Amino acid sequence: MDAELPALSKTQREQVLHQWKEQQHGRIEIDLPLSGHGEVLPKFVVWPGVLNPALVTARYLATYLYYNNERLFTGKRVLDMGTGSGVQGIVMALCGATEVVLTDISEGAVKNAQENTERFSVWNRCAVVQGDLFENVQGVFDLIVFNHPFFGDDPPEDDSIAASMLNPGTLISRFMDEVLRFLEYSGTIIMPFYSGAGKTNDPSVQAPLHGLKAKRMFRMVAQTGLQLGEIFIYELKQHRGRTHTRRR
Ligand SMILES: C[S@@+](CC[C@H](N)C(=O)[O-])C[C@H]1O[C@@H](n2cnc3c(N)ncnc32)[C@H](O)[C@@H]1O
Repeated sequence: MDAELPALSKTQREQVLHQWKEQQHGRIEIDLPLSGHGEVLPKFVVWPGVLNPALVTARYLATYLYYNNERLFTGKRVLDMGTGSGVQGIVMALCGATEVVLTDISEGAVKNAQENTERFSVWNRCAVVQGDLFENVQGVFDLIVFNHPFFGDDPPEDDSIAASMLNPGTLISRFMDEVLRFLEYSGTIIMPFYSGAGKTNDPSVQAPLHGLKAKRMFRMVAQTGLQLGEIFIYELKQHRGRTHTRRR
């Protein structure tokens, strides 16, 4: 990637370029850790052009879902927005969600996620769809998970890895404007964040601007992987009293 990324600080630019380089891979199979105690998603497939979740915050989000399944999604209908390889949707399908919709704008990601739903034998309770945010999503959900691009600048065109890492703030803003139409009244949205990325795509900054409350549920300082430093997971709810029209 040779984009100049003018909206980022020098440190952020260096981080993006480093992460982008490390995410250039062919088709790989990884044993993706779900806990610190040996549970893994064995031979989880990641396609070229799709983010390898083992190297970034996605991994901690998968672990968070794995440990909080009963409270968040067992027996429920859930949405994995920006599914990439399908990791969060597959963890939810394996850990008790009744119905999982996985969606992404990238054709490669959608095919990758579909393959993993088959590989982990959860295809019969998963629907994988391609679209821009909620474009091809129907109905309402008890839980919506979105591991969104963290760094606040424009990605170069036709670069799906860059588009997984970079957005100037329009994506999170559109997501938060639309999400309540797809969320049960008492439903939850989960969004992780890497603090090194700055404020533009920080869910705790954006949520109150869109009628949502963000509660920090998890903080850690990552010592390994590509995103070193503070990582957060937020649970978002709608502000009580807010009304909106849902699609059914
Ligand atoms: C940070 S990656 C997360 C991938 C995967 N969920 C994970 O945790 O490894 C962000 C994902 O959002 C997708 N994305 C970017 N823009 C999108 C849009 N407008 N609509 C839907 N998905 C989008 C990217 O293709 C990418 O797969």
